[in-house]
Amino acid sequence: MAYRIAERMKGAQGSIIRELLKLANEPGMISFGGGSPDPDAFPSEAVARISEEAMRRQPAKILQYGISEGYPPLRETLKKHLQATEGISFEDNDILITSGGQQCADLAAKLFVNEGDTVLVESPSFIGCMNAFRSYGGRLQGVKLHEDGVDLEALEKAFRQPGISLFYIIPTFQNPSGFTTSAEKRRKVYELAQKYGVMILEDNPYGEVRFGGEWIAPIKAQDPDGRVIYMGSFSKTMAPGLRVGFVVMPKDLFNQFKIAKQATDVHSSNLFQLACDEFLNHWDYPAHLASIRALYRKKGLLMYDEIKKHAHPSLRFAKPQGGFFMMAYLPEGQDAMPFVQEALKRKVITVPGSAFTTDPAQPNNGVRLNFSAPSEEQIVRGAEILGKLSREMLG
Ligand SMILES: Cc1ncc(COP(=O)(O)O)c(C=O)c1O
Repeated sequence: MAYRIAERMKGAQGSIIRELLKLANEPGMISFGGGSPDPDAFPSEAVARISEEAMRRQPAKILQYGISEGYPPLRETLKKHLQATEGISFEDNDILITSGGQQCADLAAKLFVNEGDTVLVESPSFIGCMNAFRSYGGRLQGVKLHEDGVDLEALEKAFRQPGISLFYIIPTFQNPSGFTTSAEKRRKVYELAQKYGVMILEDNPYGEVRFGGEWIAPIKAQDPDGRVIYMGSFSKTMAPGLRVGFVVMPKDLFNQFKIAKQATDVHSSNLFQLACDEFLNHWDYPAHLASIRALYRKKGLLMYDEIKKHAHPSLRFAKPQGGFFMMAYLPEGQDAMPFVQEALKRKVITVPGSAFTTDPAQPNNGVRLNFSAPSEEQIVRGAEILGKLSREMLG
């Protein structure tokens, strides 16, 4: 049967990562290809106890329809939390609870992206959100990303074009690069957006997973015009299976986001919104964060040290300071695909940088490495295999 798929979905591509990860369960395979949290970081006991008690005490409230804005106590808790930890003010902003961060991107695209609009993204960027923009007919355009943030000249050139509906940016511990945009560049990005009248979609799922360096305020913390939509998630700090995220937007946009969410899934899970709220308020959230930061610090630095120990000196990679990823770069102009394919033959899964760009057919010298999911033993073995491979290929 020939199905008549809507034009808007024709540009959306299946995730190469999901395809690669099908191999991850083969015996002896080491996967640096995914992006999942370490299950040891899940607050399983807390979620079990909170859920059990909530179901015993207020089953009708949990099992009944909820409201699209989100569980009210969680919205209030998050306002206080984001004000205290990220410097985001709620005088002119409001917050809506979503089903994960992914839904924030989907709702923002639904509201802002007209068929044929250009959506600017960092190059490389996160595939899930790029696909959300594509699914509303957005045409993606990448802006080169450096270690301290996007290339400002390229950004200004891109901003000069007509029909830009959003600039999507992940300023802290970016997926896939692991890079963090400097405070100076964040200011300049905002100034340029002001100059050219562009809306910014700021994604910060990894900000709280900082284990090195200094905190940098999100772009949303200084948004006098109301041109920044800020998205966050409990997926990396608690657990992705909860599917709880949140979007902060100027008050004037709140109703539109609420209607867009109503049309999508009515509301997010009552039980897991309550679990997030209780966890933040009545369990030791700072202690939990400290423990997951220590866990990911150990793994991130182990991967960095082990690759450094074995790799050819011309393989470039930066020391991670947070998040789940680091990116290794072959010399400029060298496509990483043969490296990734050879690594796969040696039972190490990595993802080529080209997968995270707007045109995956173009060669790219980056290789994304995930350190949150593999065990320490796998990190040591996998890093040695990749290091040796780099010496053979670059030697
Ligand atoms: C940069 C970025 N944004 C958003 C998400 C979506 O996460 P979730 O929908 O689980 O909150 C991810 C997940 O990997 C991500 O890396």
